[in-house]
Amino acid sequence: MTDLHAHKILILDFGSQYTQLIARRVREAGVYCELHSFSLSAEKIREFNPDGIILSGGPETVTLDAAPQPDPAVFELGVPVLGICYGMQVMASLLGGEVETADHREYGFARVFLEQETPLLSGLSDGRDDAGRDFIDVWMSHGDRVNTAPDGFIVAGSSDNAPLAAIADNARHYYGLQFHPEVTHTHLGRQIIERFVHDICGCTRDWTPDNIIDDIVDHVRTKVGSDEVILGLSGGVDSSVLAALLHRAIGDQLTCIFVDNGLLRLHEGDQVMETFGKHMGVNVIRVDAEAEFLGNLAGIADPEKKRKVIGHTFIDIFDREAGKLANARWLAQGTIYPDVIESAGSDTGHAKVIKSHHNVGGLPEHMELSLLEPLRELFKDEVRNIGVALGLPHEMVFRHPFPGPGLGVRILGEVRKEYADILRRADAIFIEELYRNDLYDKVSQAFAVFLPVRSTGVVGDNRAYDYVVALRAVETIDFMTARWAQIPYDVLANISSRIINEVKGISRVTYDISGKPPATIEWE
Ligand code: XMP
Repeated sequence: MTDLHAHKILILDFGSQYTQLIARRVREAGVYCELHSFSLSAEKIREFNPDGIILSGGPETVTLDAAPQPDPAVFELGVPVLGICYGMQVMASLLGGEVETADHREYGFARVFLEQETPLLSGLSDGRDDAGRDFIDVWMSHGDRVNTAPDGFIVAGSSDNAPLAAIADNARHYYGLQFHPEVTHTHLGRQIIERFVHDICGCTRDWTPDNIIDDIVDHVRTKVGSDEVILGLSGGVDSSVLAALLHRAIGDQLTCIFVDNGLLRLHEGDQVMETFGKHMGVNVIRVDAEAEFLGNLAGIADPEKKRKVIGHTFIDIFDREAGKLANARWLAQGTIYPDVIESAGSDTGHAKVIKSHHNVGGLPEHMELSLLEPLRELFKDEVRNIGVALGLPHEMVFRHPFPGPGLGVRILGEVRKEYADILRRADAIFIEELYRNDLYDKVSQAFAVFLPVRSTGVVGDNRAYDYVVALRAVETIDFMTARWAQIPYDVLANISSRIINEVKGISRVTYDISGKPPATIEWE
């Protein structure tokens, strides 16, 4: 079997908003990589034993004394190093070059003309100017710039604002780029990353969905032996892919617990049972807990209290059901690489983002289960690719995110069954029409929200006095900021008329045109 970790790249993070993108581009090039804080010790760097190192961008300036620096071991291992933006500046200053603070920040597209030969860039071209010089169009985002390259470096590319936009020491395999090859705005960025990891570092393209599946299956088998494993299946992407993967690895030793809390989307529970139970033959225990959840939620209107009640009820039920599986020794969880990076960051105090939403709050401690996290090394897009390779339905793998508390935070105020039933049907029409108009995959998240206010309408000859539904659709990369999606009016008109005509209890539909910030994506 291919050793997936035989070749690997180390990425040291200096705090750029694009660092995870670098890691994703390296993975897309079929090479395993890990992302660590810039302060990773020499010992850890050696232990990781990378075939190449990438120093990320970052918000700091090397012109200050306290500037973050990597351990000098980076330049002692004899492996290629690529510095991007701040990473280039810190490399240049450590190796004897000079960095200055430019008069103004440069942010946006720039044209870099290729100068002297380097295997990183030579031969790439987005076009040629009248003088016959090849150029590449790139994305810049920097204040400082290198004005003297260290000894041994050549100028490989220059732009108007950054005469040293690309530098290279071809003999020692050190490269510096002032621009960002990891963002898609730099059209040839993908090729630049591929050249670095394949041609320069010599890594082979082994990190592919099929190899990853084989690797995880093998590891899980070795780790759990003949033990039994429990998995909380939510119907979301991560737990679904994990269920399929574990089923392939250990078959009947896996038991999934699917808690239907009565706050799921239309037919969602049945679909989960159909896909996993019926088609794939996975052991799934479906717990119909609608009454228990709605009972516990009765009379509670505060959003955070609702979240807590839903979370605690889930844990109680999960513990109760898991406790019946006396032979289980492992609890599988769908932790993915961004969660690992985030909690590593919060351990060392470098976290920029604090995760505010956790779905599974606790482990059934008395059972003494060990934690199994087979997706720990994967980014979300890798989890999706694996899901496709495992044969999961496309709609399941590419579904919009759905909050743990489900419709509980999409029914404003007190949650009632009547409201949930109305909302589910309105939401299903909205989503169906987005699919029909080829818009579902173009928006990042779309859903309906139930407003417990009454509004007058006319249905046939009668006056109606019914509830209001708000539609929300957003476009976002990271869910930290979002724009409302500009769904065409005729599509909205059709959705509105279908909802009012087909869902009894709704007299009015509105469309939410608030961005995040200041509004959040969910209404509660
Ligand atoms: P907000 O509303 O904070 O949402 O802009 C950002 C993303 O997080 C999801 N979200 C949640 N997910 N439990 C979850 O698992 C929650 O309590 C929760 N609240 C919001 C939201 O759907 C969006 O994708």
